[in-house]
Amino acid sequence: MRGRFITFEGGEGSGKSTHARLLADRLTALGIEVVRTREPGGSPGAEIIRHILLSGIAKPLGAETEAILFAAARDDHVRATIRPALVDGKWVICDRFIDSTRVYQGALGKVDAKLIRSLERVTVGAAMPDLTFILDVPATVGLARAKRRRGKGTADRFEGESVEFHEALRTAYRALADKEPKRCVVIDGRAPRDVVAQRIWAAVEQRLHPGPRVTETAAP
Ligand code: TYD
Repeated sequence: MRGRFITFEGGEGSGKSTHARLLADRLTALGIEVVRTREPGGSPGAEIIRHILLSGIAKPLGAETEAILFAAARDDHVRATIRPALVDGKWVICDRFIDSTRVYQGALGKVDAKLIRSLERVTVGAAMPDLTFILDVPATVGLARAKRRRGKGTADRFEGESVEFHEALRTAYRALADKEPKRCVVIDGRAPRDVVAQRIWAAVEQRLHPGPRVTETAAP
């Protein structure tokens, strides 16, 4: 059976990476094989494109070109990492995926929704997420967390945008979740870490039914 595909989405500092890790640990403890990955990146080819995108050198080319570059990275990532894992029955947990393109390049960058959908069809095909968590925090809270985490390092291409940009991201994510309630679950990322983790686990149990894996033993 095809494995399950779970994605985490949200603004900067929303806690996606922490909760992707906690969920992976919990599934692994049940004996489920989990591949944890992220975008942009997640495969050798896509990691090269990640550097181009996050350095900001592609910004002058415009949001449409950036969307095409994110799609190019995704194409490699799906082929090299995600699809093979799902075919093997593994569960894939990915930090950011198609919804980041819909929100950052689509809603905020004003890239035509039709282009974004066409890119999705080509790159993702049947490898659509079964479940997507949108971690929701006010922009000021998320940016402050991201800044603390970064320490003296400089903000990347998107962290450097204004508070208004990040608040608009949040609104766009919520609108997206309203449109696809079967796939998307919005979680209040301001709640204590354990509470957030428990809410995520409750949704996984309810929607994807992860049972403990029983390994077959050969008859004596
Ligand atoms: P990253 O350093 O992975 O940080 P985080 O996920 O913790 O925010 O940065 C990825 C950045 O790329 C992030 O600012 C969102 C942006 N992005 C897009 O604009 N479009 C996309 O399709 C993806 C996958 C990411």
